[in-house]
Amino acid sequence: MTEYRRWTLAKHPSGVPDEDCFALVHFTPDALQDGQVLIKTHYFSLDPGMRGRLSGDSYAAGLKLGDTIESAGIGEIIDSASDRFAVGDMVMGGLGWTEAVLHPDRGLQKLDPALFDDKVAMTATIGVLGVPGLTAWFGLQDLGKPESGETLMISSAAGPVGATCGQIGKTLGLTVVGLAGGAEKCAYLTELGFDAVIDYKAESDLAAAMAAACPDGVDIYFDNVGGEMLDAAILTMKPKGRIVVSGQVSEYNQETPTGIRQTTRFITHRLRMEGLVVYDYAKQFPEAQAAMAGLIRDGKLSYKEDISSGIEDAPRDYAALFAGANFGRRLIKTI
Ligand SMILES: NC(=O)c1ccc[n+]([C@@H]2O[C@H](COP(=O)([O-])OP(=O)(O)OC[C@H]3O[C@@H](n4cnc5c(N)ncnc54)[C@H](OP(=O)(O)O)[C@@H]3O)[C@@H](O)[C@H]2O)c1
Repeated sequence: MTEYRRWTLAKHPSGVPDEDCFALVHFTPDALQDGQVLIKTHYFSLDPGMRGRLSGDSYAAGLKLGDTIESAGIGEIIDSASDRFAVGDMVMGGLGWTEAVLHPDRGLQKLDPALFDDKVAMTATIGVLGVPGLTAWFGLQDLGKPESGETLMISSAAGPVGATCGQIGKTLGLTVVGLAGGAEKCAYLTELGFDAVIDYKAESDLAAAMAAACPDGVDIYFDNVGGEMLDAAILTMKPKGRIVVSGQVSEYNQETPTGIRQTTRFITHRLRMEGLVVYDYAKQFPEAQAAMAGLIRDGKLSYKEDISSGIEDAPRDYAALFAGANFGRRLIKTI
């Protein structure tokens, strides 16, 4: 039997997860049962939002010690005891940080290689057409309630959620302002068509920088970061502004959250703030994915992937997400 490797949870983290929190376990898959398939992973994702699951503080159940770290993945069926999938089929699903997985034949989506090309790679199904892109799509449109001519400001704008959100915003006629760390990420946002960018790492007064970039104020703040940045953004909101809480990446590793202090603005400016869990929109995913694939093919939506090879580096690359070291959707290639 072939031996594979998977990363499991060795210790619940406190702060940014260090490598001791993970254990690389060698295993040989059990014998296939009826209704199961054996999948050889080709790619899996590293998601900042998984942080809550590692310490058990999430909308979904926390991971137990010894569990495989969960993530989206793409793989090939290499053995099948299912009439739904044949050997050689490519699938997408929650495969985890693993080189192979024995999986029930449910919760997997078959990927037709003929539908992918140099414009829309198969990896897009776990990126711009997967959870990050869908979060941008539904967060902006359902919670942001954008109207043409409004101003949209986005934090972590160069990440997969943020960059997708900004480009969708442009197709809806919004003025789009992005916050990102560093000149390279800011230049990328300008290339994507963002109207203004703020390198937050180069600013000492973030609220002043936001006010300068959005002289008429912000109608929609799409927040991936939280903390101090959110507090500064609240001060730029126009009356009746909407704050979409997609993520709070600056808070995920804090024992004591920074929290929001500018709450009076919610009264004076009649602001609204609402979070989303993208899976609540699952029934509408196919429609959104088709629309976004159309935007990609029309040259209105592009995406960036940051792919490294080898399962060994997953914990280090995961921690690096919280230092801004990723540039695009962070994926690990396992073949
Ligand atoms: N609600 C949902 O259903 C849902 C689903 C998926 C994802 N999300 C959330 O969406 C957000 C974006 O996810 P993503 O996959 O696109 O990842 P991402 O934005 O690429 O996240 C990593 C980036 O976050 C920024 N960052 C990290 N720590 C920071 C800090 N302390 N202050 C400011 N920026 C910081 C860094 O960018 P810079 O270099 O620009 O600092 C880093 O490159 C995450 O918060 C995630 O949890 C929500």
